[in-house]
Amino acid sequence: MTEIGVGIVGMGTVGEGACGILTRNVESIARQAGCQVRLACVADLRRDELRSRVPAEVRFVEDAAELIRSPDVQIVCELIGGTRAAGEVVRQAMAAGKHVVTANKELLAKHGPELLSLADQQGVDFYFEASVGGGIPIISPLRIGLAGNRIQKIVGIVNGTTNYILTQMAAEGGDLADVLKEAQQLGYAEADPTNDVEGYDARYKLTILATLGFHACVDVDDIYCEGIMKLQSRDVDYARELGYEVKLLAIAKRVDGGLEARVHPALVPFSHPLAAVAGVNNAIFVTGDAVGDVMFYGPGAGSLAAGSAVVGDVIEIARNIRCGATGRLKPIEFRDLDLVSTGESVARYYVRMLVKDASGVLAAIATEFGLHNVSIASLVQKDASEGVAEIIFLTHEVKERGMRAALECIEGLSVVEQVCSMIRVEE
Ligand SMILES: NC(=O)c1ccc[n+]([C@@H]2O[C@H](COP(=O)([O-])OP(=O)(O)OC[C@H]3O[C@@H](n4cnc5c(N)ncnc54)[C@H](OP(=O)(O)O)[C@@H]3O)[C@@H](O)[C@H]2O)c1
Repeated sequence: MTEIGVGIVGMGTVGEGACGILTRNVESIARQAGCQVRLACVADLRRDELRSRVPAEVRFVEDAAELIRSPDVQIVCELIGGTRAAGEVVRQAMAAGKHVVTANKELLAKHGPELLSLADQQGVDFYFEASVGGGIPIISPLRIGLAGNRIQKIVGIVNGTTNYILTQMAAEGGDLADVLKEAQQLGYAEADPTNDVEGYDARYKLTILATLGFHACVDVDDIYCEGIMKLQSRDVDYARELGYEVKLLAIAKRVDGGLEARVHPALVPFSHPLAAVAGVNNAIFVTGDAVGDVMFYGPGAGSLAAGSAVVGDVIEIARNIRCGATGRLKPIEFRDLDLVSTGESVARYYVRMLVKDASGVLAAIATEFGLHNVSIASLVQKDASEGVAEIIFLTHEVKERGMRAALECIEGLSVVEQVCSMIRVEE
């Protein structure tokens, strides 16, 4: 085999990055693959508009099916996003015996196990490094480099938009809505930011990480998900005064009775490497029983960053084709590992509330905490004006169920005006 043909479906942000790398780094790619890797064809609905972005010698079609049928395309890169058309492209390509690379976290989170077993049945390769962490290698380390470990815990900052917003709130202050608007103007947040700020994007990525890391069939809809929209700038400020950054974390960890998987904002101590991950960068912190702690850090999105991960997959598949070793990465035999309900999850908490500035208030609150086995680690009183005081509690570890029950009772106390925030602390 002297040449392997690649097709890109979707000439958007990632498609353009992958196209640029494949056409610019031809020689180094060929050296590593052991054969020429040629971008043979591109498909995009906006062919006329985008034609000039692709070298003239590369065929440009509108219909993905035409690209998939092309005999000179052995590797199909699905880079259109979403699940409907993208799912069709991936299934059709596999059915036609083509190897597939995708960057599509949503497709993998919703249909990953089905697509992995289809690839296995068809004897084709299916790689998806760009689906989590953009340019950061994390899928291949979980599948290969860390495969000898029993993974204990995966904690990631896997959404650049929300990390940018939280970094700006910490550095400059300002309400979330204003910082979000600024992020949209700078192109760091989409016009409709729902997927990012509500945590759905992070949940897709956590589904993939948890499935690979724990060899468990994880249903995306079973993962607890809380976005950042309720966060107030004073919580970010107070957290910093206490020695913590607020980060949107995607967490999967092995616990008694199964697996815990959740996405939510959390206080991360300054001393933890994840606290230093700023701006649109991503990082994934993995704890294995043998290796200990490792962290993968870098650009979580962007044309060339994600394109880099796509092209890495293409080269690996080209090597496999050349050696007759495709289909080498068998789909994992997924086990039933029950997702533990969030009520059972154990964490420390940061709680901010507004209470009457009067004697006996703290005793009443402490009694309710005590009745629900919530032990207070520290307490700070902030502003007190017009008869209302703002207080912050940091608790010791407690089951979420107990914490919520305590706060429900505390909210019912006549001396409590409002429980404003409850944020987990991830040590
Ligand atoms: N952007 C990133 O930094 C990044 C990072 C990692 C992973 N990803 C993932 O990579 C994928 C692509 O993201 P992106 O940001 O590159 O998206 P994008 O900029 O919207 O590009 C998608 C392109 O595909 C075209 N398209 C849509 N349906 C098509 C079809 N049926 N046939 C052919 N072309 C079609 C779109 O055309 P229209 O515009 O006309 O619809 C658009 O040009 C997504 O799964 C995303 O989650 C993105």
